Amino acid sequence: MPEPVKIIIEGKTYELPVIVGSEDEKAIDISNLRKKTGYITLDPGFNNTGSCISSITFLDGENGILRYRGVPIEELAENSTFVETAYLLINGELPTKKQLNRFSVLLNDNSLVHEDMQIFYQNFPRASHPMGILSSMVNALKSFYPELQENEEEINITVTRLLSKVRTMAALSYKISRGHKVVYPRPDLSYAANFLNMMFDTPVRPYMIDEDIVKALNVFWILHADHEQNCSTSAVRLVGSARVNLYAAISSGICALWGPLHGGANQAVIEMLSEIKADGKDLARVIEKAKDRKNPFRLMGFGHSVYKTYDPRAKILKKECDKILSKSYIDDPLLDLAKQLEVFALKDDYFIEHNLYPNIDFYSGILLRAIGIPTNMFSVMFAIGRMPGWIAQWRESIHDPRWKLNRPRQIYMGLPKRKYIPIDERQEGSSEASETESV
Ligand code: CMC
Repeated sequence: MPEPVKIIIEGKTYELPVIVGSEDEKAIDISNLRKKTGYITLDPGFNNTGSCISSITFLDGENGILRYRGVPIEELAENSTFVETAYLLINGELPTKKQLNRFSVLLNDNSLVHEDMQIFYQNFPRASHPMGILSSMVNALKSFYPELQENEEEINITVTRLLSKVRTMAALSYKISRGHKVVYPRPDLSYAANFLNMMFDTPVRPYMIDEDIVKALNVFWILHADHEQNCSTSAVRLVGSARVNLYAAISSGICALWGPLHGGANQAVIEMLSEIKADGKDLARVIEKAKDRKNPFRLMGFGHSVYKTYDPRAKILKKECDKILSKSYIDDPLLDLAKQLEVFALKDDYFIEHNLYPNIDFYSGILLRAIGIPTNMFSVMFAIGRMPGWIAQWRESIHDPRWKLNRPRQIYMGLPKRKYIPIDERQEGSSEASETESV
């Protein structure tokens, strides 16, 4: 056991225990700090705060390492499927053949979406963003499948149902948004092939399943499957800490993921690259704009809260983009532009000093375009991929013996106590309304 850390507050020394993780990461346990000292810690963005002890994902941002349940992301991307990786994340172990088979059967059995849900899909305004639709519909699952989640068996069914239906729901929203006939899931197809078929099969042009595209989609989803305590996962855990149902907790994760600084970045990268192309590919100007503190513009797909080196997921995706684009003979000018921009940025002193490297979103949009996914569905693709991670983290949190309703504190720096002034006595433009009464 490491020595406790000593802190001195107002001349008094307190000892705080140190927790050491499996990979030697160290944390000062401050869970009793306020009780013992009256002090709290202040950490906007929680970048120095561990919110939980977890056995799901290990991430070392300094050295570009990512492992799910101990297995390196590179090995999973090379050898696994999304369904197998989902099983690993949710259950903690790689499945045996029998377990994987049973899991796949369960996913197939739960792949249909209640027909009544289609009414809702059809009534969203045509221009609705698919992430708004997905978060609403995932939340609505509780109304259509109100079964309890009290024992492990019920939780397993709920989890599998969600994992399976989310793919059907995503494809359904795409078909309905285009005014096309809905395609139902097929039990003979794998998870990824089924999704592609539901998205792209039409009565006039049957979708031809291409195993390389299926593999690329599996890789894409595996790379997105978990990323420890990121913004959306923290949202799932925080909302879940109020003991809401799984659907509500996951729905909050989808909302968080929608943001352009998080899962919305893949769409933002494509929009940025398209603008750069339309503006004559002036890369020097783009880099200058990204460095200008007065300009809110940032190089989308660059930088990461945790990675201070090349995101290992971006490396794998870059290779996958090359493979798919060369195989399908698609010439996407945005891929060349992205590569040029990467070279340009990585040579720039500002990017070097700030440790700004491409993150997963820099190349993911290009891969999705090559598969045929429309830009406004990019973050939905991320959400499907992140589903096993959210589920595993939610499940871990509800079984955590240290579980607590999440309730951070704050430092109040507002007005001191003051009198309520009746509306007739308030004067326009006068400071009287903010006169204070000393406490
Ligand atoms: N372009 C230009 N400058 C940047 C960028 C960027 N993409 N990212 C960070 N910086 C600068 C930032 O201005 C700050 O500069 P200074 O210290 O001089 O004020 C410094 O680097 C540190 O920035 P920060 O915001 O404190 O860093 P962070 O680690 O909190 O931000 C981030 C992480 C992802 C929000 C940020 O890098 C960013 O906005 N990137 C673009 C959006 C993006 O690609 N998001 C996807 C993230 S990966 C997907 C996921 O896992 O969710």
